[in-house]
Amino acid sequence: MKFHIVILLLFVLGVLRASGADKLSKNFYKQRCRQAETLVRDITWGRAQNDSRLGAKLLRVHYHDCFVRGCDASILLDTVGTNAAAEKDARPNLSLLGYEVIDEIKSQLEKVCPGVVSCSDILALAARDAVSFPFKKEMWDVLTGRRDGRTSLSSEVTGNIPGASSNFTTLKDLFAKKGLNVNDLVALSGAHTIGVAHCGPFSRRLYNFTGKGDTDPSLDETYAASLKSQCPNPASAAITVEMDPQSSESFDNDYFTTVKQNKGLFQSDAALITDRAAAKIVDSLLKPKSFFSEFGKSMKNMGAVEVLTGSAGEIRKNCRIVNALFSVLSSTNEILEKVSVKVPGEETYAKEDYTISLGKKLMLKLLYTIYYFTIGVAHCCGPFSRRLYNFTGKGDTNPSLDESYAASLKSQCPNPASVAITVEMDPQSSESFDTDYFTRVKQNKGLFQSDAALITDRAATKIVDLLLIKKSIIYILRLMFSSIIFPIYVMYGPQPY
Ligand code: HEM
Repeated sequence: MKFHIVILLLFVLGVLRASGADKLSKNFYKQRCRQAETLVRDITWGRAQNDSRLGAKLLRVHYHDCFVRGCDASILLDTVGTNAAAEKDARPNLSLLGYEVIDEIKSQLEKVCPGVVSCSDILALAARDAVSFPFKKEMWDVLTGRRDGRTSLSSEVTGNIPGASSNFTTLKDLFAKKGLNVNDLVALSGAHTIGVAHCGPFSRRLYNFTGKGDTDPSLDETYAASLKSQCPNPASAAITVEMDPQSSESFDNDYFTTVKQNKGLFQSDAALITDRAAAKIVDSLLKPKSFFSEFGKSMKNMGAVEVLTGSAGEIRKNCRIVNALFSVLSSTNEILEKVSVKVPGEETYAKEDYTISLGKKLMLKLLYTIYYFTIGVAHCCGPFSRRLYNFTGKGDTNPSLDESYAASLKSQCPNPASVAITVEMDPQSSESFDTDYFTRVKQNKGLFQSDAALITDRAATKIVDLLLIKKSIIYILRLMFSSIIFPIYVMYGPQPY
């Protein structure tokens, strides 16, 4: 008898291990950061109060996170400079929203419990809390103890996140790859009871299903007509439709009724009733109680997919960047803030203020150079858009910019500037720490006015020439500069401005 119990226990443990659930625990932060879960809930609920779609946004981000490299917050990492694009820049993820709420929670948590609460746990908790807001209670349990990954690759998205036109076999296989079964697939698809979709993912179903200008015959006719009236052909990226008409803001089991009525928006929704076993599950979820309970169980399963625990991964300090990069950025930023200039980033860049002394300007430039070449920073087109399109306010281009380079920049950065677009700071070589930057400045191909400004001054031009000569000089300068000269200069040098 005892022997059987042991076997049974080992079996149960085996199943738990396979799902990853044993690695996580309830109240993981109770001792480590008592206020963690309350703080996540309070901020999320505060935001949800003014954004009725927040639940849908965060739920989808959490799902897209878990399906690529597991629930490791890899979806939250930004693409850095010209490094390979991160997951969030992959096509299926471009419509994900809600990252700023996670940022806010993280920055508050870092104040009270620095380095303790992972971004992946924050995302799992916030997704639950945002959906739960209208109910004023937790709609499912979230186990915690996840750690954050250090890798995020857009190339890994396709093949892991099912597309809207997936058939049942594809859906089943992709879920199985994550250790999730058909029960999970059907229950989790119920998430489509909230939120909106762009016309693109289902446009083909409406206008060109088999390539003959036809409509998917499995789609209810009146629903198809209503969708067509909302989504003209070709699909516009600006239009969205409710996923669960009339009830897309309430988290309920309506989705399953609509799927049964052939009103599932995507082929992947309709696919759930093309398989007998799945169709039975759909039927069972027509009872609200069953849906809430099954959805909760499957969220727990999904939240445990390939989690990093123990000493794997890290606890990110900032959900958008890995810790190694964060340390470099924050120390650089600290130094630069002391001289009233911020690290270049999407909206922070060198003040184009030339009252700053030439010495300091050069110092900063060098620091920037080091920064660019060692790490590579993504830049939106904003900081130099004016140079391209409206230099003197007359729709002109900065004449000091090389013409062919200006044309290439224009093709990458249409007017008006989009923060979503980045360009290489040092084309073709922006990932290597080398002297190319100075060559480009000399060729009038410096990206910013502040780059071009370096050769408007004789002394500075001489230094640029000098730096062109030997690579090693930059390395020595980099070492000296970051560890000795710059700190001394900041402490004892003349005050800025
Ligand atoms: C079964 C495979 C799935 C497919 C093919 C799929 C596909 C899609 C697509 C194409 C959209 C519309 C995106 C847009 O146009 O903006 C969408 C939205 C959404 N999906 Fe899924 N999805 C699936 C599973 C899931 C799962 C498992 C969850 C969560 C547990 C989920 C949650 C959502 C939510 C909440 C939205 C609305 C987002 C918003 O309003 O911003 N989906 N899904």
